[in-house]
Amino acid sequence: MCGIIGYLGYREAYPIIINGLKKLEYRGYDSSGIAIFYDGGYNLYKTIGSVYELEKKISYNIKIDEKKGTTGIGHTRWATHGIPNDINAHPHVSNSNELILIHNGIIENYHAIKIFLSKKGFIFNSKTDTEVLVNLIEYIKNENQLSLEEAVRISLNEIIGAYSIAIVEKSHPERIVIAKLGSPLALGINDKEFFIASDPIPFLNYTRNVLDLKDGEMAILKRNHELDLRKITNNHKLSPSIRELHINLKQIEKGGYKYFMLKEIHEQPKTIFDTLRGRLSNELICIEGIESNIDRFINAKSITIVACGTSWHASLIGEYLLEDFAKVPVEVEYASEFRYRNPIIEEQDIVIVISQSGETADTIAALKLAKAKGAFVFGICNVVGSFLARNVDAGMYTHAGPEIGVASTKSFTAQITVLFLLALKIGKQRSKITHDRYKLLCKELGSIPEKVRITLKIDNIIDTISRNYHNVENFIYLGRGINFPVALEGALKLKEISYIHAEGYPAAEMKHGPIALIDEKMPVVIIATQNSVYEKIIGNIQEIKARKGKIIAIVNKGDFQVSMLADHIIEIPTISEELSPLLTVLPLQLLAYKLAYIRGKNVDQPRNLAKSVTVE
Ligand code: G6P
Repeated sequence: MCGIIGYLGYREAYPIIINGLKKLEYRGYDSSGIAIFYDGGYNLYKTIGSVYELEKKISYNIKIDEKKGTTGIGHTRWATHGIPNDINAHPHVSNSNELILIHNGIIENYHAIKIFLSKKGFIFNSKTDTEVLVNLIEYIKNENQLSLEEAVRISLNEIIGAYSIAIVEKSHPERIVIAKLGSPLALGINDKEFFIASDPIPFLNYTRNVLDLKDGEMAILKRNHELDLRKITNNHKLSPSIRELHINLKQIEKGGYKYFMLKEIHEQPKTIFDTLRGRLSNELICIEGIESNIDRFINAKSITIVACGTSWHASLIGEYLLEDFAKVPVEVEYASEFRYRNPIIEEQDIVIVISQSGETADTIAALKLAKAKGAFVFGICNVVGSFLARNVDAGMYTHAGPEIGVASTKSFTAQITVLFLLALKIGKQRSKITHDRYKLLCKELGSIPEKVRITLKIDNIIDTISRNYHNVENFIYLGRGINFPVALEGALKLKEISYIHAEGYPAAEMKHGPIALIDEKMPVVIIATQNSVYEKIIGNIQEIKARKGKIIAIVNKGDFQVSMLADHIIEIPTISEELSPLLTVLPLQLLAYKLAYIRGKNVDQPRNLAKSVTVE
C-alpha cells in the first residue's frame, strides 16, 4: 500500500508533488520517489526513508533547474514486493527508459508476466511487481505499435490484482494516463490543471473539484486540458461526474499539537458529539440506514461483524451491546479469517463491516463475500465515498473527520458510539430492551462528550506513570466484560507506537498462563471501574499484588477499595457499564502516546505500519 500523486498543468510540479507526498505518508513511508518531466526528458529521484529524506537528498544534490518541469509524479511506499530500498522505490522505468510509472496496489500474477517478459529479453532491476507492469505496457505498446493509452488499457486487462497507477511517456510529458481497480485514486480538476492523488487532501489548496475514478476506469489527461475517461475492459467513453468537496483544511492540520495522534485523542469530545449529531435527540434515535431497512433488522437471525485491527476491537464491544440490547446472536470475525473459511451466512443474516478507511483489503474482500452469500451488508465507516461506503446495502458514517495518526483513536470511540446507537435502536425495534433502560442510556449517551472532555484532563498522572515505566519491556492490560476489548485496544496502542511488548487479557483468564509473567518489574494496567464484576476485579488485583506486580488501575472518581491496592490510579467519571469503554480507553490512549513520546518514537508514523492496509 502506498500513496501516489501527480500533476499536469502550468506551475512547477516539484513543490506540488513533494508537499503532496508529505500529506500521503499515512499510506506508507518506507521509501519515496518523484519524477519531474521537461520537454524530451525527465529527472528521477528516489530514496529509502520518508519524504523528508527525499526532500533532503534532492536539495543537497540537485541543481534547481533539474527540478523544473510542469508535469510530475510521486510515490510514497509501504513495501509489499521487495524490501524498502532505493531500487524498489517508485517511480519505475521501462527498459527503453521511455515509460515512467507509479503504482499503489498489488499485481498478483506478476511472476508469470515477469517470466514471460524475461524470455523476451526484458531485464528487471527491482523486486517489485510495478516494474513488471511498466515493462508489460512497453512490450504491448511496441509489439502492436499502440498509443500509450491503448497499451495501458490492454495491459491492465491482462492483470490480476489491484492498482491505481499514473504513467507518463518521456517523449510526451504533456500527457498522463491514470487507471484504477481496487486501490483509491482521486482526480482534482481546475481550469488549466490536473491533480492526481490517492486521496484529495494533497490538492485541496488548488481545487475542490474532484472526480473519483471508479474501479475499472482509466483517464487520459492532456495539457490542453482534455480529459478522456474510459472503461478499461471495452474502451467505452464515459462522461465524467465531478463533485465539489466540502472539507475544512483546519481539520487536517496539527492545530498546535506535537503529533496528530495527540490532537486526535483530544478531539474526541467533538468527534463523539459529531457522531451523535442528528441521530440522537432526547429519546429518539434516528438512523436513516436502519429506518429504511427496519424489517431486516427486526427479523435478523444472527449478526456477524467483520473488521481488522482497532475496528475489530470496536466490533467486540458491539457484540456485547447488540446481544445485550437487541438479544440477537452476534459473532465477531477478523476479516482476513472470515474471507477464507467459507462462513455460514444465510439470506436473513446481517453482516456488519467496520473500517475507518473503508479500503482495508481484507475487510473489502469480506464485504464482497458476504454479499455473494446473499447477506444484507451494513457498513460502518469513516471515509466518505470510500469503497466500503459505496458498496454496502446500507450503513452509517462515523463522522470522526480525517484521522492521520496511524494509531487509530478517535475512530475507535466513534465506532463504539455508532454501535451503541445501532444496538439501542435495534433493541427498541425488537422490543428487547425496557423503555426505562433505553431512556436512561439515551440520556447518558448524550452526556458522553462532556465526560470525555473531563476524562482527558489527566496529563499529570499519565506523565508520572510514563516516567516510571518508560524503560520496561513488557506490559499487561486486563479488563473484564465489555472492558476486555478495551484492554486489547490499550495493549495494541502501546505495541504500535512505543514498541513495548504488551498483552491484553480478560482479567480472570490471567491465572491460566499470563500470571507466570508477573514479577516486581511487570506493570499491569487494569480496568477496575465499578460494575457488575467490580468485586471479581478486586480479586484479580489481589492476585497480581501477591506476586509483586505493579498495578495501574483505571477507576471511577472517588473509588476507595481499588485505590488502597493500586500503585497508581487514574480516575474517570462515573458512567453506566455499557458506555464505560468510551471513557476507559482514553487513559490507555494517552498512556501509549506518552510512553512512545518519552521513548523518542515517531508517534504518527510507527515503523512497519500504515494507516490503511490495502493489501491482504
Ligand atoms: C491498520 C491500521 C490500524 C487499523 C487497521 C484497520 O492496521 O494501522 O490502526 O485499525 O488497519 O483499518 P480500518 O481502516 O479498516 O479500520
